[in-house]
Amino acid sequence: MPTVIVTGANRGIGLEFARQYAADGWRVIATTRDPAKAADLSATKGVEVRALEVADPASIQAFAQGLGGEAVDLLVNNAGVMGPEFPRQSKDGIDVEGWLHTMRVNTLAPLLLVLALRENLAKSKAPKVASITSQLGSIGENESGGMYAYRVSKAALNMGNKSLAVDLRDRNICCIVLHPGWVQTDMGGANAPVKPTDSVAGMRRVIARAGMEVTGCFFGHDGREIPW
Ligand SMILES: NC(=O)c1ccc[n+]([C@@H]2O[C@H](COP(=O)([O-])OP(=O)(O)OC[C@H]3O[C@@H](n4cnc5c(N)ncnc54)[C@H](OP(=O)(O)O)[C@@H]3O)[C@@H](O)[C@H]2O)c1
Repeated sequence: MPTVIVTGANRGIGLEFARQYAADGWRVIATTRDPAKAADLSATKGVEVRALEVADPASIQAFAQGLGGEAVDLLVNNAGVMGPEFPRQSKDGIDVEGWLHTMRVNTLAPLLLVLALRENLAKSKAPKVASITSQLGSIGENESGGMYAYRVSKAALNMGNKSLAVDLRDRNICCIVLHPGWVQTDMGGANAPVKPTDSVAGMRRVIARAGMEVTGCFFGHDGREIPW
C-alpha cells in the first residue's frame, strides 16, 4: 500500500486529495493546522490526521520526526494562501508582512518539507513530490496583472521546485508543480468552473503518469504543460 502525505487537507483541494487517495487504497497521512477542528477530514475512512502548521519550520521538523524512518511514496504540497486582501497586494498598496507570510506558506514550506522528508521519500521505489502551484505564477501567461504576493509566491515555488528537481535527480525523486484549474473552494469561490473532484482526479492522473523524465515540469490538471 503506497503512502501519501497531503498538507492543508482539512478543506478544499487537500481534503479531496485525501478522500480520493484513501478511496483508492493508499495509506493517507493528512495534515492540518488543528486536527480538533478538522471534522470532515477526521470522518474520512482510512486517513491518519496529523498536525502541521506549514508556516512554522519547527512544526515541519516535528512532523518529519514523527514519521521516523517510514517510506513516503508521494508528498502533495497543497496548503496555500491567497495573500493579503485586495488592494493590499496591488499597485495601490503592498502589505509587506502579508506578502512575507504568503511566501512562507506558498514558497518556503513546500521546499522545507521536501528537504525534511527527503530520506523518507528516498525509501520509495518511485518517489514523487507534487507541489500545488497556480497558473497565476506563470510569467508567460500573466495578462491581467495584480495579485503580486500570490503570483510571486507561486512563481518562486516553481523555481524552487526546479532546483529541487535538479538536485534530487540522483535520489530518483520526481518533483513537479501542478495548477489545479480554477476550482470551487473557499479560495476559488463559488463561481469557479472546476469541481474539486474533477481537479483532483485530473491531477492524480498527471501524478500517476509522471516519471523522472518530467521532473521539474509545470502541468495543469488536464495534463497541459504550462509555460513558465
Ligand atoms: N482554488 C483554486 O482555484 C486554486 C487555483 C490555483 C491554485 N490553487 C492552490 O491550490 C491549493 C489548495 O487551494 P484551495 O483552493 O483548496 O484553498 P482553500 O480552500 O483556501 O484551502 C487552503 C488549505 O491550506 C491550508 N493552510 C493555509 N495556511 C496554512 C498554514 N500556514 N499551515 C497549514 N495549512 C495551511 C488551509 O488550512 P486552514 O483551514 O487551517 O486555513 C486549508 O486546508 C493552494 O496551494 C492554492 O494556492 C487553488
